[in-house]
Amino acid sequence: MTQTENQTGGKLEMKDTPLVPVEDIVSLCKRRGFVYPNSEIYGGVAGIYDFGPLGVELRNNIRRYWWWSMVQNHDNVVGIEGAIITHPRVWEASGHVENFVDKLVECSNCKRRYRVDHLPTENVAQNKCPNCGGQLGEPRPFNLLMETYLGVIEGDKTKTYLRGEACQNIYLDYDNVLKSSRMQVPFGICQIGKAFRNEVTPGNFLFRQREFEQWDLQFFVHPSEMQQWFDYWKEYRYNWYMNIINHKDRIRFRPHASDELAHYAKQAFDIEYRTILGWQEWEGIHWRQDWDLSRHSEFSGRDLSYTDPLTKERYIPWIVETSGGVDRTFLNLLLDAYEEEPDPTGKEKDKRTVLHLNPMLAPVKVAVLPLQKNKEELVTTAKTLHKKLQRLMVSQYDDIQNIGRRYRRQDEIGTPYCVTIDFQTLDDSTVTIRERDSMSQIRLNIEEVPMYLLDRVAWK
Ligand code: GAP
Repeated sequence: MTQTENQTGGKLEMKDTPLVPVEDIVSLCKRRGFVYPNSEIYGGVAGIYDFGPLGVELRNNIRRYWWWSMVQNHDNVVGIEGAIITHPRVWEASGHVENFVDKLVECSNCKRRYRVDHLPTENVAQNKCPNCGGQLGEPRPFNLLMETYLGVIEGDKTKTYLRGEACQNIYLDYDNVLKSSRMQVPFGICQIGKAFRNEVTPGNFLFRQREFEQWDLQFFVHPSEMQQWFDYWKEYRYNWYMNIINHKDRIRFRPHASDELAHYAKQAFDIEYRTILGWQEWEGIHWRQDWDLSRHSEFSGRDLSYTDPLTKERYIPWIVETSGGVDRTFLNLLLDAYEEEPDPTGKEKDKRTVLHLNPMLAPVKVAVLPLQKNKEELVTTAKTLHKKLQRLMVSQYDDIQNIGRRYRRQDEIGTPYCVTIDFQTLDDSTVTIRERDSMSQIRLNIEEVPMYLLDRVAWK
């Protein structure tokens, strides 16, 4: 994708680019401090990652944008933040103890393990390992819940689970929210939080991890309004993703076949995104009906039915769920934004690596660069502007190496704007603003810079 932008921020041109290898993203993430392997000095842990200085900024922006769109922009939605550990009965009521199972097979020759539903059909039919052609063993069920224990005395500890899906807290807090927030059906509760799964085959970097983060909306409705709200949220979530990607042709809906529906879902659609890994799930839109509140009513003994304040009708609300992954969003956005371009000036033989991240999500919004670091007036002016901008957005000050190299460093981490303080600044108080995608430059009075940038990096 090559994207150019005119001076008013309008998109002028987009062209397609090849799918990016995941290894290029892994390497960029390590090199520039987005993501590191967890416990690397001990050899690492498969399927668990840490986020570095730039990764935290990007992740926080992604989360905040979701929260802003889903909670703060909807009068009928509120948010909670529940605990990772809950009462163990929660996972019996939810059906996870019984049903949250993958089937695993092991090759008798190379000992590789596979999830049966991830194997190519011909390998399942022939019972043949895709790696070495060896014989695959009998499928064994494998529960994905991670166990943990509460209590200090050996033999007297209670077994419970790290939450296998973050959304369970929402059902547990549903009644409290209803009583404390003046919400009435139809209304929704959102949460962003960690989930834990003993994935049989963690892999593909952040795509399938054992510890990851989910964002959920559970929207409670009268059964007669289920279809209407299901359609509303399906469309809303699709458009939300469309708004943050460059490659609009790489996203689609896929309905679940009846044999792949989760135990709680009567109907489901995945929003999928196409990367080098093929079309893969990004978010699930689930028709959970009355499964959750009925089960928790039954298992806890607490009546979770709702009484309509006008009609006095009593019923268990049905639920529309939208459930996506913060980490998959992080990975997909990097795969969507990454591009290696030949050097446009022709002077350097290095390619230009650029992240075309949406400015509102970019980890660093602006870099302030004095043309030379040994000219005190340039440095003082640049540092004063940088300090002013830091109160409004993430700004970096950089005076190391020539200006071209500094632009490249910022392009590689997706910084949408660079402001250069040069000798003309000292004469007429104007600065150069350079835009990342088009590399176009304009001159602007230094006093106008904060508003110019704020306008371009605000939530949209
Ligand atoms: N409450 C419904 C639920 O958990 P899910 O389809 O299992 O549904 C929702 O998960 C989202 O969580 C997925 O669409 C994906 O983005 C993310 N996700 C699921 N498993 C993941 C894993 N092992 N690693 C990273 N993200 C994962």
